[in-house]
Amino acid sequence: MIKVGIVGLGFWGKVLLEYFKSTKGCKVVAVQEINPQIEKEIDIYGIRFYTNLEEFFSKEKMDAVIVVTPPPYHILPTKMAAERGIHVFCEKPISASLKDADEMIKVCKKNNVKLMVAFKHRFSKAFSYVKQNMDILGKPFWAIYTYPLWQVDNPGWKFDEKGTKGIIVENMVHAIDGLSFIFGDVKRIYAEGGNFIFKDAKVPDSAIFTLRFKNGAIGAIGGGCTSDRRISQEYLDMHFENGIAQIYGKLDWPVNLRFLIREEENVEFHKFEGSDGVREEINHFIDCIQNNKEPISNGVDGKKALEVALGVIKSIEENKVINI
Ligand SMILES: NC(=O)c1ccc[n+]([C@@H]2O[C@H](COP(=O)([O-])OP(=O)(O)OC[C@H]3O[C@@H](n4cnc5c(N)ncnc54)[C@H](O)[C@@H]3O)[C@@H](O)[C@H]2O)c1
Repeated sequence: MIKVGIVGLGFWGKVLLEYFKSTKGCKVVAVQEINPQIEKEIDIYGIRFYTNLEEFFSKEKMDAVIVVTPPPYHILPTKMAAERGIHVFCEKPISASLKDADEMIKVCKKNNVKLMVAFKHRFSKAFSYVKQNMDILGKPFWAIYTYPLWQVDNPGWKFDEKGTKGIIVENMVHAIDGLSFIFGDVKRIYAEGGNFIFKDAKVPDSAIFTLRFKNGAIGAIGGGCTSDRRISQEYLDMHFENGIAQIYGKLDWPVNLRFLIREEENVEFHKFEGSDGVREEINHFIDCIQNNKEPISNGVDGKKALEVALGVIKSIEENKVINI
């Protein structure tokens, strides 16, 4: 039984608490959250609640820590966990800066603990299906990904220049990672952005950008927080030497896949009803600990996606092509 502690119980921390509570092979033993009011808001029967991080680490015996604080605060609990030999599941984006990401990767490697970054798209069945069939699909040619988040009510730290630096780093990083998972590492970025909703924010709320991948493929991603929860759909159209794959569905629930191999007569259609990337990524993390495997989305993947997202912002700000 893997003993789990969770750090940060805001919007997403509460969601993950419920997921981990219902995951086989693990038990949530403690949580840490700086806001004491939150203890009253959640069902933590049998789980110890701490406001102090030092106390949380000194009093609890844990095998894994789940980091769900705002990104500038991912580094401290990650370091404290790694130095105590505790594995880390860290929410995306891995951190607010590449410097933090490097330190997080280094400390986890030095202490021989897993560092998994939560990129749920990698674990959804449609993405897994395409990934497993890469040999058949052949060389990636080009792709377009629309990934439109609905309007967020209060941008808070998500739009703070010192925080996550806006919706591109906070949210579109899922699309950047999802496409990179299939197409490979990015070499070059050109982006255009706009402030359509949050006119006074210093970072864009919407962006469209092109990517050149190291293997020669090209891609484009468009997104931002101008959509509406009622109709937000993500759509990823990928063209390969030997086939075409189209993944689509409700934002963050892309359960549909059209899959065509050029030489074959029939087009496959899959509806992976019930596919839940969050459930799958958590099961994968527990499996990695139990069976000493490297996570499918590790710290290096987290840093690569952050580097592209920051490159998108830089390209918009400086109106130039950014080489990675
Ligand atoms: N994978 C996903 O689909 C998904 C969805 C939403 C958010 N997230 C990620 O989860 C993380 C948290 O996002 P959120 O939406 O829950 O934010 P939030 O602002 O709702 O919650 C953050 C919580 O962390 C607490 N906190 C702040 N500083 C802290 C510190 N130093 N130590 C302990 N707790 C601290 C805050 O009090 C708050 O309760 C971010 O990395 C975000 O990108 C992921």
